Amino acid sequence: MSADTAVGPTAAAAADPAAVPGARRRRQGEVVLEVSNISLRFGGVKALTDISFDVREHEVRAIIGPNGAGKSSMLNCINGVYTPQEGRITFRGRTFDHMNSREVAEMGVARTFQNLALFKGMSVLDNIMSGRNLKMRTNILQQAFRNPWWSGAEREESEHREVVERIIDFLEIQAYRKTPVGRLPYGLQKRVDLGRALAMEPQVLLLDEPMAGMNVEEKQDMSRFILDVNDEYGTTIVLIEHDMGVVMDISDRVVVLDYGRKIGDGTPDEVRANPDVISAYLGTSH
Ligand SMILES: Nc1ncnc2c1ncn2[C@@H]1O[C@H](COP(=O)(O)OP(=O)(O)O)[C@@H](O)[C@H]1O
Ligand SMILES: [Mg+2]
Repeated sequence: MSADTAVGPTAAAAADPAAVPGARRRRQGEVVLEVSNISLRFGGVKALTDISFDVREHEVRAIIGPNGAGKSSMLNCINGVYTPQEGRITFRGRTFDHMNSREVAEMGVARTFQNLALFKGMSVLDNIMSGRNLKMRTNILQQAFRNPWWSGAEREESEHREVVERIIDFLEIQAYRKTPVGRLPYGLQKRVDLGRALAMEPQVLLLDEPMAGMNVEEKQDMSRFILDVNDEYGTTIVLIEHDMGVVMDISDRVVVLDYGRKIGDGTPDEVRANPDVISAYLGTSH
């Protein structure tokens, strides 16, 4: 085989910037998600106006902006909770006028919410296990006819447990496996919430303010887990975050929203130097 037709592992490694030491933050693949001209209104409130941006495979893409800018609404359009009046969303080459929540989840998109939606009385283990629901193939009929000779359901259950245990190890929450989530400090509850999303083994992870309400140390821990997920599993991350320091540290590219409009889009350095972004932030408490 001549050099210019070389394919396979060697050529792939050479083309993969992640293979270059120190190039982690530039590991971006093809566009996986494209938001085109999305507008969303609630009665007279324009939550989003003509928003377009893309998300590349493996990147950490941040969405920032003052309170009420439309950040959560944007994630809700992507995962099918809200239906925009205008625009399209293209996911892995398929274009949708609006997304369907279940279909989005089946396509490998998982989500955490700004306000925790965990089962407070249930253990850490069971909460993370609840994230496996979509993966559970065993249907009710199979369960009903289960017999000692047909242990598919048990085998599947133990596979799910293994995945969940791996996530618990990964997030370093072994000590709290059996603890009801409501008894944990807030920072750990947010980690369990991340664990539940990871239980779906997502290709794209949408995180709505995963560090809100955390102290500095908890934020550092969460930043590390997010980067580890991104590094070790290659998961694409779309992240809403208020803390500009965190955003600048962990994201590859940043979209800036203000009053439902996009006012900036680029690398952290680019948006930090953008006059519109500076004035939006100087005019608020963030
Ligand atoms: N379900 C809803 N019903 C009515 N208005 C909403 C709803 N969700 C969001 N909004 C409004 O849309 C705007 C953007 O909100 P949101 O997306 O939550 O902003 P952010 O997450 O940037 O703080 C706000 O004016 C908010 O009040
Ligand atoms: Mg929000």
